[in-house]
Amino acid sequence: MQATTASATASATAPLPIAKVQIQLGERSYPILIGARLLDNPATWAALPRASAALIVTNTTVAPLYAQRLRAALGGRYGVIHAVVLPDGEEFKTWATLNLIFDALLEHGCDRKTVLFALGGGVVGDMTGFAAASYMRGVPFVQVPTTLLAQVDSSVGGKTAINHPLGKNMIGAFHQPQLVVCDLDTLQTLPGCELAAGLAEIIKYGPIADMAFFGWLEANLPALLAREPAALAHAVQRSCEIKARVVAQDEHDTSLRAMLNFGHTFGHAIEAGLGYGAWLHGEAVGCGMVMAATLSQRLGLIDEAFVQRLTALIRSAGLPVQGPKLASTDNAGRYLELMRVDKKAEAGEIKFVLLASPGKAVLRGAPDPLVRAVVDACCA
Ligand code: NAD
Ligand code: GLY
Repeated sequence: MQATTASATASATAPLPIAKVQIQLGERSYPILIGARLLDNPATWAALPRASAALIVTNTTVAPLYAQRLRAALGGRYGVIHAVVLPDGEEFKTWATLNLIFDALLEHGCDRKTVLFALGGGVVGDMTGFAAASYMRGVPFVQVPTTLLAQVDSSVGGKTAINHPLGKNMIGAFHQPQLVVCDLDTLQTLPGCELAAGLAEIIKYGPIADMAFFGWLEANLPALLAREPAALAHAVQRSCEIKARVVAQDEHDTSLRAMLNFGHTFGHAIEAGLGYGAWLHGEAVGCGMVMAATLSQRLGLIDEAFVQRLTALIRSAGLPVQGPKLASTDNAGRYLELMRVDKKAEAGEIKFVLLASPGKAVLRGAPDPLVRAVVDACCA
């Protein structure tokens, strides 16, 4: 199954999407709309079925920026539009915060036709999706990602989750949204470190799937860092196309989809080991990609020159390339311990997404002594 792209249809009255990437999943198929000024445009939402109620789920940072605009654009499609504003931060991706969404749904008497709108970054998106997957055993939801990371990765593909103190994203469900709307204008208010975090998940797509895109990223990194709309549009669209192709083939992450976790095994250990929120998810993934590429090189899969090339791009994006110390005495042992709590692990054996060659990922184990050597070499 293939992702498709299409140019915008011109409209005299309102800006329309400049690109549409389709997630092909049979009856669970949906479009990702990518463009400028989509949020305020009622045409963006026109294809959604009408319902008696909607709930906008957002957070304390995003609500003042965009919640009222979304509410105004949705007006008329829903009899009543409620909102719940969550605390902001990865450390709040928990049962307690998830419960705030259920509280709001129940207090407002929301039925199973109620549509949830996830307005925010990946944390809001993952929690809203999980709430939608489980409220009354499943209600529809729409992703309105407002971070670069969420637009290129987390809002697409239906993975939803909360964290557990012992492991990242360990409690969750697969639940596909009805629609994903990536309004590129929202990226203009994003802090610089969050833009860099999103670049990590974009860079990821090169080594695992598309080296031409990797070359484009090397050439266009300054434009992306300057938030040039055309560069952002291409990066978001190409990332979504690659992810759409993978998700269409392996929705439930039983084989191919694991490749999207390049850098995440080390990265999740960093996040859990430092405490959620200490490093941004994208920062941990960026550094994790350096570690995974180094492991690939030490296994003889790729050469040192590509590790250096990837490291240079990650560093230029403003991301850390040296891992943090997670323990003062046995740092590598602590990494290993944390990485065993990973959804890809089988019977305690860690499975790493490695590079078989630049542009091609492979899932495999590695001997502990080699992993220890990589952690020692990559940590400050
Ligand atoms: P985030 O949701 O914490 O957002 C980053 C910060 O930016 C937050 O403070 C947020 O309030 C703020 N923000 C959001 N939009 C803004 C805007 N337009 N202007 C100003 N500030 C804005 O972090 P994230 O990087 O978007 O997402 C990370 C999360 O996504 C992690 O929990 C990760 O596990 C998850 N994730 C999930 C998937 C998936 O497939 N479901 C994939 C990748 C990552
Ligand atoms: N971000 C990894 C996945 O969607 O599978």
